[in-house]
Amino acid sequence: MRQEFVFTLPVTIRPAQANDIPKLEWFGMITPYREILQKDFAASQTGQLIYLVAEANHFPVGQVEADLVRLQDAGAGYIMALRVLPPFQNLGIGARLMTAVEQAIFHQGILTAQLNVEKSNHLAQQLYEKLDYQITGEETTPWSYATPEGEVKTVNEPEWIMQKSLKKGGA
Ligand SMILES: CC(C)(COP(=O)(O)OP(=O)(O)OC[C@H]1O[C@@H](n2cnc3c(N)ncnc32)[C@H](O)[C@@H]1OP(=O)(O)O)[C@@H](O)C(=O)NCCC(=O)NCCS
Repeated sequence: MRQEFVFTLPVTIRPAQANDIPKLEWFGMITPYREILQKDFAASQTGQLIYLVAEANHFPVGQVEADLVRLQDAGAGYIMALRVLPPFQNLGIGARLMTAVEQAIFHQGILTAQLNVEKSNHLAQQLYEKLDYQITGEETTPWSYATPEGEVKTVNEPEWIMQKSLKKGGA
């Protein structure tokens, strides 16, 4: 037996709230990064970071962040941690989160958006290219985090640096 039905699902993009943070672990998938979620949410509360979520049916199904401090001297906002819960991918939520975070950066008087994408992440790179980001360099900068079990993990992946001017277009 098989039944099909279609429904519309409104999605809201808004700043993250404290009660989103445990939900953003996505039933264990993001739990190793708990420390980062908590630290970034705290930074969003002091204005150092923009933390946006895409909410559907009272659940945060996507997120994006912009660090306003890291590239302050270069006059750029640093976009990071864009992700969409897998069953909700390829529906346009990632692109809308990007547009929303660009607008929020522009609203702070910052005219350039910059991000890093792992060279192996071709789908994300494609998305950023569609959104008018251009490769401006490359780097491999190791970074570490501690899992809730106290294990320290180090990520050491070659990445493209991509930039977009927010003066016209997206923002
Ligand atoms: C990258 C990511 C955030 C994109 O979000 P999304 O909601 O699926 O993206 P959208 O639906 O807005 O856009 C899809 C576009 O992005 C690309 N894309 C990225 N991920 C894709 C996927 N899993 N399936 C298909 N297309 C994907 C395609 O170019 C696609 O373009 P098209 O719609 O014209 O075919 C999402 O795939 C994700 O969470 N991936 C894992 C985390 C990650 O890699 N984040 C980026 C770190 S730099």
